[in-house]
Amino acid sequence: MVLSSSLSHLALLVSLSANNVLAAPRPSSPMSLSMNLKRRVPEARSADDISAWAANNKLALEAKYGNTKSIAKRSSGQNLIVNQKADSSFFGSLAVGTPPVAYDVILDTGSADLWLASSDCADSACDGVPTFKASDSSTFQNKSTEFSITYGSGAAAGSLGEDVVQMAGFSVSNQIFGVCDQVTDNLLNSPVSGLLGLAFQTIASSGASPLWQTLASSNAWDQPLMAFQLTRYNNDSKATDLEPGGTFTMGATNTSLYTGDIDYNDIPDNDESYWLQTVSSITSQANSISISSGSSALAAIDTGTTLIGGPADAVAEIYSNIPDAEAGTGQLEGYYIYPCSTTVNVTMAFGGKSWAISNADFQAEQLNSNTCMGAFFSLETGSNAPAWIVGDTFLKNVYSVFRYNPASVGFAQLSSEALAMNGVNGASTPSATIGSAAATVSATAGTRDANSAVALFHSSPSTTGPIISLLAITMTMFISLRLV
Ligand SMILES: *[C@@H]1O[C@H](CO)[C@@H](O)[C@H](O)[C@H]1NC(C)=O
Ligand SMILES: *[C@@H]1O[C@H](CO)[C@@H](O)[C@H](O)[C@H]1NC(C)=O
Ligand SMILES: *[C@@H]1O[C@H](CO)[C@@H](O)[C@H](O)[C@H]1NC(C)=O
Ligand SMILES: *[C@@H]1O[C@H](CO)[C@@H](O)[C@H](O)[C@H]1NC(C)=O
Repeated sequence: MVLSSSLSHLALLVSLSANNVLAAPRPSSPMSLSMNLKRRVPEARSADDISAWAANNKLALEAKYGNTKSIAKRSSGQNLIVNQKADSSFFGSLAVGTPPVAYDVILDTGSADLWLASSDCADSACDGVPTFKASDSSTFQNKSTEFSITYGSGAAAGSLGEDVVQMAGFSVSNQIFGVCDQVTDNLLNSPVSGLLGLAFQTIASSGASPLWQTLASSNAWDQPLMAFQLTRYNNDSKATDLEPGGTFTMGATNTSLYTGDIDYNDIPDNDESYWLQTVSSITSQANSISISSGSSALAAIDTGTTLIGGPADAVAEIYSNIPDAEAGTGQLEGYYIYPCSTTVNVTMAFGGKSWAISNADFQAEQLNSNTCMGAFFSLETGSNAPAWIVGDTFLKNVYSVFRYNPASVGFAQLSSEALAMNGVNGASTPSATIGSAAATVSATAGTRDANSAVALFHSSPSTTGPIISLLAITMTMFISLRLV
């Protein structure tokens, strides 16, 4: 069965990727970055949208003809995102090139490269996927450097290019990204064309400053942070392939989406690589699980991973509190099955507050009428990767904030407004910002930051490391289990 082979494929790739070290090419000289800020132009749908477009158009023309006073610096922006295949992945949209063309990209806080499938891609993975055609963009520059990246669920390779990239009302005029003519199966599901890495530059295979980091380090944002609210559809039998996925906000938190304080915890040892946190406590059915200290407690908070992977002994202990839970065998090795009738309550804490994972999220898949597969699986990562990968299973239960400075991750309780978006079958899929000519502000952006990150890499290659391939482990292969 296709399904079975993709399951073993997943397991294989997880172990390979965790131990594999990619000698990725890096730009040899420091990059100098400059940036344009642009106002978001919403798609023209309602009268409000049309007025907003009109206002922007006026600003753009005034800016073009020298009236700099009319330029409003944009300081935060929102991207409505899409929930693909019942919580398997979450994607947003950005626009690349001149004229700008919009692409859907997986939003992945577990990696740090932007790449798009190229129009030269002949792999079956690129069939039916909108691809990037470099010759259509007058501002594209080929860096003529090879690029490759490996994830938990596949790999992509091609060459690096540079172009204008716009998202959520922001624009970076010289974003370096991969143009990939080789993409493995299961990595892209139409309409998704690529991936936007939202972790730190130190782990970028390209060596380039990630879009978000350029914006944050150049003070383009009101606040140096980005935030997610992710919707839940995995317990909704009517979920279609694409549903409203929640919101991704750059430069601010959206106070209507959470209540109470945001509980921030620093990235341990200032190790700005993945969005690392230290797992301080896990409970399963109200019993505490033993968590090893040190590196075994490190977790990457990863929007690009569907489930939660962790050390085998801790994962086994989580299930030991669930009556009749059993380790999966064969293709389900590393996973656990348990009676669907059991309501499971697992909580996780990262130094501060404890957050509950809903039973709906814990119950990742229903294998047959009685048997379910749990969302925690046992994962062996290499010495350079964190022991825990905390994916959407957890993140759907909180408002999550990724703060650049001080480097930390914060969680807050979702508001009733946010919760009300779960399982609401959308009449249409939200689409995100599509760039257009708008007011332009020049900023001397990111140069210092890009320099220091590159220098850090060169000065301590053994600790910062060659790039560990990453973690976007998605679950699309499990969807077909439901049909069995
Ligand atoms: C960039 O140049 C390389 C050769 O250096 C070529 O292989 C690649 O196809 C080019 N990429 C694009 C997107 O044109
Ligand atoms: C906050 O999120 C809600 C729901 O997506 C949205 O309607 C609202 O416009 C957002 N507010 C801001 C300031 O972006
Ligand atoms: C889940 O477990 C935690 C820790 O024991 C407990 O505080 C919380 O009330 C439980 N939640 C539910 C819904 O049972
Ligand atoms: C899905 O799970 C959530 C959280 O447990 C719950 O509030 C909601 O009612 C569930 N929806 C359905 C359709 O069962």
